[in-house]
Amino acid sequence: AAQRVGERPPMGWNSWNRFGCDINEDLIRGAADALVSSGMKDAGYQYVNIDDCWAEQNRTAEGKLEPSHERFPHGIKTLADYVHGLGLKLGLYTSAGTLTCQKTMPGALDHEEADAQSFADWGVDYLKYDNCNNQGRPAIERYTKMGDAIKKTGRPMIYALCEWGENKPWTWGRDAGAQLWRTTGDISDNWGSMTFILDQQVGLEKFAGPGGWNDPDMLEVGNGGMTDAEYRSHFALWALLNAPLLAGNDLPAMSPATKAILENKDVIALDQDWAGAQGHKLRDDGDTEVWAKPMSDGSAAVVLFNRGPASTTISTTAAELGLEGHTFRVRDLWTGTETETAGALRDAVASHDSSVFRVWPSTHPSAAPMTTLALPAP
Ligand code: DGJ
Repeated sequence: AAQRVGERPPMGWNSWNRFGCDINEDLIRGAADALVSSGMKDAGYQYVNIDDCWAEQNRTAEGKLEPSHERFPHGIKTLADYVHGLGLKLGLYTSAGTLTCQKTMPGALDHEEADAQSFADWGVDYLKYDNCNNQGRPAIERYTKMGDAIKKTGRPMIYALCEWGENKPWTWGRDAGAQLWRTTGDISDNWGSMTFILDQQVGLEKFAGPGGWNDPDMLEVGNGGMTDAEYRSHFALWALLNAPLLAGNDLPAMSPATKAILENKDVIALDQDWAGAQGHKLRDDGDTEVWAKPMSDGSAAVVLFNRGPASTTISTTAAELGLEGHTFRVRDLWTGTETETAGALRDAVASHDSSVFRVWPSTHPSAAPMTTLALPAP
């Protein structure tokens, strides 16, 4: 059965974090090609999203948006066809204002229907709708108008609110027709920014679920401003939060370490778990934190996060994760190693790194039917 758009947090790539306004159709095609050749597509990444700066400064005489003649000479439709031909989907961007944030192109305020129709005509599958130059007009009204305009086109599109959390969009985003809503201002590629955004997610977990997700902003993994340990934490925590996983790095130039983080299927599985119960901070001991997420198969995921300056041991228990039983199977999602435990979970975690475990209750040995142990090999 076809999934409704946004049923799970969308996964893909976006041009902004690494390239800003320095984009063109070759770069976007290259990113799409790299999604396929790098294995990202197989890992679940699907959307190729163009951010700010793709259009001409002025509308046509008919009031329509026009792709930049210089940087997107073949237009968005041609690019969308190419991306679709690779089995991927195309995302586009504008602002609920008179101009976009970089002021290089018009926003869609008071042009919602015309612009949504252009996007649908071009084959766009995802709209990110920014908040710049909004003329002080009410957010709910501006964002609902575009949600209605998208619906009116009849084309299924992810509708991503980029309202920065200013008017608590987690309380009205779904009603505006959106599948995700940014919760904060912009991430930048450093530890302070990433942890600052993480801290603002606490308490929002109850607003997320299938079809409507909190968006703590796009990934910086692989952009060079953080260590691999910090990128592991960033990625694991974003997955635990059921965040949209939008890579923001230069995909054709991705290092093996970056690839190993972004393509870790066990960590991605936390993000994409069908029940979509967003993870939350379970314990805060200052420099160390325990974040947990109940999984739909009855297991639990846990991130042991070391924010401190030195390596330290972080502990929790299966009971603290809400699991019942006498023995548990534990998989370390970075190494793939599996162990058994009677309940204790602990690991030495390097500074700014995270250990990520998935924990399954196993049947207590005394309750295991002996016959299964005696079965001959097939
Ligand atoms: C602000 C948004 O929050 C960013 O993600 C990015 O889209 C920029 N605007 C582009 O100008």
